[in-house]
Amino acid sequence: MAVFSNLLRHATVLRHRFTLRSMSNIPENTVYGGPKPQNTEQRVTLAHLKQKHKKGIPITMVTAYDYPSAVHLDTAGIDICLVGDSAAMVVHGYDTTLPITLDEMLVHCRAVARGANRPLLVGDLPFGTYESSSQQAVDSAVRILKEGGMDAIKLEGASPSRITAAKAIVEAGIAVIGHVGLTPQAISVLGGFRPQGRNISSAVKVVETALALQEAGCFAVVLECVPAPVAAAATSILGIPTIGIGAGPFCSGQVLVYHDLLGMLQHPHHAKVTPKFCKQYAHVGDVINKALVEYKDEVTSGSFPGPDHSPYKISASEVGGFLDELKQMGLDKAASAAAEAVEKMEKNKITS
Ligand code: KIV
Repeated sequence: MAVFSNLLRHATVLRHRFTLRSMSNIPENTVYGGPKPQNTEQRVTLAHLKQKHKKGIPITMVTAYDYPSAVHLDTAGIDICLVGDSAAMVVHGYDTTLPITLDEMLVHCRAVARGANRPLLVGDLPFGTYESSSQQAVDSAVRILKEGGMDAIKLEGASPSRITAAKAIVEAGIAVIGHVGLTPQAISVLGGFRPQGRNISSAVKVVETALALQEAGCFAVVLECVPAPVAAAATSILGIPTIGIGAGPFCSGQVLVYHDLLGMLQHPHHAKVTPKFCKQYAHVGDVINKALVEYKDEVTSGSFPGPDHSPYKISASEVGGFLDELKQMGLDKAASAAAEAVEKMEKNKITS
């Protein structure tokens, strides 16, 4: 028994050491530090999502494009973190999602993968990386997982060739989310960012294409900008979850773009592209603007950094030696500047 408990203690110590070793790139007791790693044991999987769907618990999905947004999603307990090609618009400032490349998406994916340990990570296949052939689609999807650290991919549309591609990706062992309704990568043929499913044939197409994606093996389908009854119809007949965006409340889950829901982009250009269906849960852009203006004013007036933000001290004896050294080097001007700084810092300390 004693031998067994000793072995157990030894194993625990080794496991602890391994954890520290695997995080050896995180320096202890340094000037800079980031958020603590989250609990990886709680990672969301397809099985968790299936359970939620079965129980009728809504699935939450939000986009993220970098490390800080990923950490925020993680700590908020969001189920699915989508590295969307909307990055082209909200991060890179393009008017559409078309210009972003796979290499650019991979940079976003890797940053997100470093920040979000708990959510299921889904990377969008960008325009031009999966339309030519199933082989191209599988190759791109493999890169999203292998080089981007994602768990699954999302692709837009449900034309026969897209369905074949989705099937091929699933057969390659990669989980796929489909996306129908408004598919922003197809604005060229849709004639702009237009809602879909607003007449009989278009509404039927939404339902049929969602079904076809399910048949192809997708584990969920995004329904974008369709009337609520159309989304309700699709949700009721599909065995997989529907994730709505501008598709009303009768979906199995909801997704919003990070910058849109936070009210982050208050610049007129971005205000123009914030969609009507998006509820802004905060006005982070206003907070950012206010902080930046305050910082600019304080730097300009010289009130930042004050004593509270000048933390690194040098002892009186060291500073004395430093001044002597400067003088010996013929740097009298530098010595006077340093002496003056000491005096000012002392004065500020007394008056603050
Ligand atoms: O790219 C994206 O952000 C998306 C969501 C809008 C679903 O596809």
